[in-house]
Amino acid sequence: MESQEHEGSAGHSGPAAFETTSNPIVAAAGEPLVVLDHVEKYYGDFHALKDINLTVNKGEVVVVIGPSGSGKSTLCRTINRLETINAGEIRIDGKKLPEEGKALAALRADVGMVFQSFNLFAHKTILENVTLGPTRVRGQKRAAAANAARALLERVGVGVQADKMPAQLSGGQQQRVAIARALAMKPKVMLFDEPTSALDPEMINEVLDVMVQLASEGMTMVVVTHEMGFARKAADRVVFMADGEIVEEAEPEEFFTNPKSDRAKDFLSKLLTH
Ligand SMILES: Nc1ncnc2c1ncn2[C@@H]1O[C@H](COP(=O)(O)OP(=O)(O)OP(=O)(O)O)[C@@H](O)[C@H]1O
Ligand SMILES: [Mg+2]
Repeated sequence: MESQEHEGSAGHSGPAAFETTSNPIVAAAGEPLVVLDHVEKYYGDFHALKDINLTVNKGEVVVVIGPSGSGKSTLCRTINRLETINAGEIRIDGKKLPEEGKALAALRADVGMVFQSFNLFAHKTILENVTLGPTRVRGQKRAAAANAARALLERVGVGVQADKMPAQLSGGQQQRVAIARALAMKPKVMLFDEPTSALDPEMINEVLDVMVQLASEGMTMVVVTHEMGFARKAADRVVFMADGEIVEEAEPEEFFTNPKSDRAKDFLSKLLTH
């Protein structure tokens, strides 16, 4: 149903203006979209998530920060059920996370995820990487999926790379393809787990720019990152984790200038001096 005219804009490298009409969001901004309710997670005897209570509203951007091993990735992975939880409940758009089967596949499609490492399929073209999910999981026709994929690749500034293989792209370009691939499923929420931490410094901004653009359009996002600039620019809320717990939650400016807990103060002082 989309009629984007993106041909001819090849050559620019930054993200094009996003077409808000193709985003399934905005409608009911403010309602809870992702709810974690007394969530507990153990790896064997190790208590990785301790009584996590977190609500992410539609259109909200939540940045999760905290020391290594504090449970940030585990938190992301429980939200799309890559990890099971031991107690509590997770709801996406009012629905409890299904255990398995078709319902779980449908839920996964609602939750887009971008990881630290560019996990594109190495033996498929950039375009195929983006069309695979929509054709296989969402049942889209091949031609429609290809049109939508080209438009998305254009949006994240890699339209001209569509027919190349992943290894022919830079890390920053690959990560933007990973974002396009996740968006192609028309997710309700996007999870990012340190999407720029494996990138060379000069490529970090091109990925963050795409994420800022996405946030400004109203996409609901949970972003694990230590990029303070992104948090300040795009986040509605910062969640600080330590030792498997949410220790502090605040608006970015408040958190960075006036952290309350000793653990957050300690973490921020180390972050700023390295
Ligand atoms: N599959 C696993 N089995 C056992 N322990 C695990 C597993 N995955 C993570 N852990 C442990 O759980 C804790 C939280 O890990 P997690 O990866 O969520 O931390 P993180 O905050 O994302 O850290 P980083 O900043 O290094 O990415 C760590 O102590 C880790 O060793
Ligand atoms: Mg992690």
